[in-house]
Amino acid sequence: MRVIIQSNYEKASQWAARYVARKILDFAPALDKPFVLGLPTGSSPIGMYRELAAMNKAGKVSFEHVITFNMDEYVGLPQDHPESYHSFMWRNFFGHIDIPKRNVNILDGNAPDLAVECAEYESRIRQVGGIRLFVGGIGADGHIAFNEPGSSLASRTRQVRLTQDTRIVNSRFFDNDPNKVPETALSVGVGTVMDADEVIILVSGANKARALRHAIEEGVNHIWTVSALQMHPNGIIVCDEDATLELRVGTAKYFKDVEAVNLDPATLLA
Ligand code: GLP
Repeated sequence: MRVIIQSNYEKASQWAARYVARKILDFAPALDKPFVLGLPTGSSPIGMYRELAAMNKAGKVSFEHVITFNMDEYVGLPQDHPESYHSFMWRNFFGHIDIPKRNVNILDGNAPDLAVECAEYESRIRQVGGIRLFVGGIGADGHIAFNEPGSSLASRTRQVRLTQDTRIVNSRFFDNDPNKVPETALSVGVGTVMDADEVIILVSGANKARALRHAIEEGVNHIWTVSALQMHPNGIIVCDEDATLELRVGTAKYFKDVEAVNLDPATLLA
């Protein structure tokens, strides 16, 4: 696992954006050879989306032949509700780049049969050859997508029940009323994320410090589902200093040492 520690949220966002852009450019996507990208919602990726949109506008990277799959969506929330993940993605990213609408895949939390919707989502991913790069965020309890503590590390896309903790945290988008946060969601599984060729997890802020410690210093377990990344051959955590507050000094120093000699993708696209 690589751990990229940047001084603040902006720098971490920039690093992630430039890494994603570099991957797309190196792949040289075409109509018959699309780049398949997995994407998250939340405050963690907003800075990265802003950077990628700016690069797109500047002509440095195109999303014309990029196919995206989002991680999750609330069940029962109308698609045009401002807090649906559909709205979030168009407002914060897709609406600012040159991606064709048909290339965007987001789970439908209002599908008539949610189990069929989830199975079809998995098969659509398979049909396009699997996800090349999955970008994710985490909750304070270490959940990846909506794989709450106790989710199987082999889980696939399915309907999940949100913990009360998550509903309280997410209530900031629902008039601070946890009861207005949907009780369930559709979410890709930990196994779905881990099947990607490469996985990047964005972690920022002191409120994620405990989760980051579990992700990096503790063992793989289903309570901190992000810890599954330890088993991935190409896993990268991109974090800011605040998120490292609970890491041992030696752990942070170790990753800073090894990454110091690696080429910073920022230099490739500056
Ligand atoms: C929600 C999403 C997760 C996301 C998490 C963290 O629970 N389902 O995919 O990682 O929020 O959000 P934030 O980045 O706002 O802290």
